[in-house]
Amino acid sequence: MSTPLLEVRDERINFILENKKHVSATEHVSFKLDSHTTLGIVGESGCGKSITASSILGLLPKGAGYVAEGEILLEGKDISKYTPKQMQQIRGKEISMIFQEPMTSLNPVYRIETQMTEMLKAHDPKISKADAHARCLEMLTKVGIPAPEQRLREYPHQLSGGMRQRVMIAMALSTNPKILIADEPTTALDVTIQAQIMELMIELKESTGTAIMMITHDMGVIAEMSDYVLVMYAGRVVEYAAVKELFRNPMHPYTQGLLKSIPRSDQDSEELFTIEGSVPGLTEMPQGCRFANRCPHATERCIQSFPPTVELENGHQIACWLYEESK
Ligand SMILES: Nc1ncnc2c1ncn2[C@@H]1O[C@H](COP(=O)(O)OP(=O)(O)OP(=O)(O)O)[C@@H](O)[C@H]1O
Ligand SMILES: [Mg+2]
Repeated sequence: MSTPLLEVRDERINFILENKKHVSATEHVSFKLDSHTTLGIVGESGCGKSITASSILGLLPKGAGYVAEGEILLEGKDISKYTPKQMQQIRGKEISMIFQEPMTSLNPVYRIETQMTEMLKAHDPKISKADAHARCLEMLTKVGIPAPEQRLREYPHQLSGGMRQRVMIAMALSTNPKILIADEPTTALDVTIQAQIMELMIELKESTGTAIMMITHDMGVIAEMSDYVLVMYAGRVVEYAAVKELFRNPMHPYTQGLLKSIPRSDQDSEELFTIEGSVPGLTEMPQGCRFANRCPHATERCIQSFPPTVELENGHQIACWLYEESK
């Protein structure tokens, strides 16, 4: 078997709390990402989606969060052991990331062209001004920004939210990264613009072959964008499958709950299903299955110990005691 583009193997992320205690925010997280594919990562707030993404780029908060166990293999090389300087070579060039709110990553005091050129220069210090300008124009055009010459001269506040997110995507892709990590890239935008940005990401994925890790709360976005889906709950992977398989045959009770809570147009909002309860915090993780106290199928065994991961023939993986016998 060929080496995957990216493989996270048995990762544990710890945080150091104010009382100096080290607690695990994620445990035994494993997944692979191949080029030309999109992996959707879904789960409620606090399940560990963003920190998993940040850990790949070496961006966990300094002095507070660290990768305590496991490996992050980029084309077979363990980048979790890289120095900050080595990681700078990876960020942007090999792996780019876009965030929920583009204003946090665009600098308000510089023109768009200056910021885009900085990004290009960081990876190709010898790039000429003319070449950088041409590349900026090409990228803005690619992401569907009208009058790109004018936009390049403007400051971030002169652009709408949707335009800023397009600029972020243009910047992230300008260095031809192998992987694009998108952390809730559309949640700050209104619904029509969300749909346009999704459309754009699908087009770009097809035309560039960049592998995408798409982090979202939204099963609708997963259905539209992903080839594979990783469902996280309270810092653990509870289910993984190809997208069609997951929607046709969701096996983990948590995934079933997430799918039931997708709003449908023929439904009153009062009828909408919600999973009772909430995700446990870092210091209140149960020893057994972390979903047990919200699960309609939970038994004593679920409360006692965490279930092993079962893998079906088609690659579908589930960590739930309900399926232990079907191994
Ligand atoms: N700097 C930090 N210090 C301590 N704990 C943190 C820190 N950052 C994140 N955490 C904890 O790590 C866990 C996972 O957080 P993360 O931001 O990855 O969640 P998420 O799945 O991205 O949620 P959301 O959907 O709200 O973005 C949470 O319990 C959170 O409290
Ligand atoms: Mg997040």
